[in-house]
Amino acid sequence: MRKPFIVANWKMHKNVRESVDFVNQIKSKLPDPNKMEVGIAAQAFALPSMVEAAGKSGLKIIAQNAAAEYSGPYTGEISLRGLSDAGVSYVMLGHIERRRLFGETNENVHQKVQAALQRGVTPIICTDETMVQQVVNNEIHYVFHQLMTVLHGISLDQIKQVVISYEPSWAVGAGQHANPTLAEEGCRLIRQTIAEYYSYEIADKIRILYGGSVNPNNIKDIVDKPDIDGVLIGRASLDLDNFLKMISNAQ
Ligand code: G3H
Repeated sequence: MRKPFIVANWKMHKNVRESVDFVNQIKSKLPDPNKMEVGIAAQAFALPSMVEAAGKSGLKIIAQNAAAEYSGPYTGEISLRGLSDAGVSYVMLGHIERRRLFGETNENVHQKVQAALQRGVTPIICTDETMVQQVVNNEIHYVFHQLMTVLHGISLDQIKQVVISYEPSWAVGAGQHANPTLAEEGCRLIRQTIAEYYSYEIADKIRILYGGSVNPNNIKDIVDKPDIDGVLIGRASLDLDNFLKMISNAQ
């Protein structure tokens, strides 16, 4: 049984005070952590204070990016060593905005995933529709190698820990109704890739999240799909009441 995971991705919103206030207000309203996991991906400067505010509530504090390098002359980068020391439990890697705006490639994401696993910070590996399907001569083909570029070298023991998200570019920040059928199709293809490369048993254990225009009205239809184990929520997670409503509607 895969535990549902509801993740707020605040992107480049909220300062430290706003982030900590949100954590203080939500931490007593979380669902039973044995039944559902809730996390917030915030800007790096707010993470240590949020970890402290979350305490033992079970709320997961998540980084939005990290460097593959251990330490060194990488001005402006965020080290996994520092995130691990700060008590950050997960790190999102290869979000579509990192790929689209900052030129991150599957090879970069692969190196970051390896580094995160070595440092004990669980990666949330972000994928988009080009990693599962490609159009050739007006026909849609299932693709395997893109996701495998990111996953190659990850051992059987390690792969069980990772979380994968599927965020099609047409749905991220689009504000239009996310299509649960297409969301399920993308997540199913990712699970199929894991099953082909690792095993059906492993594929059955891995959590795959959907992201893109999730809101209080569509969340239930999305999380009810068999291959979707949770969601990554952007804009709709910024407001506390809205986010709580989504957590409630997803149960
Ligand atoms: O990480 C979240 C995704 O980018 C979705 O963002 O909910 O604002 O469409 P959105």
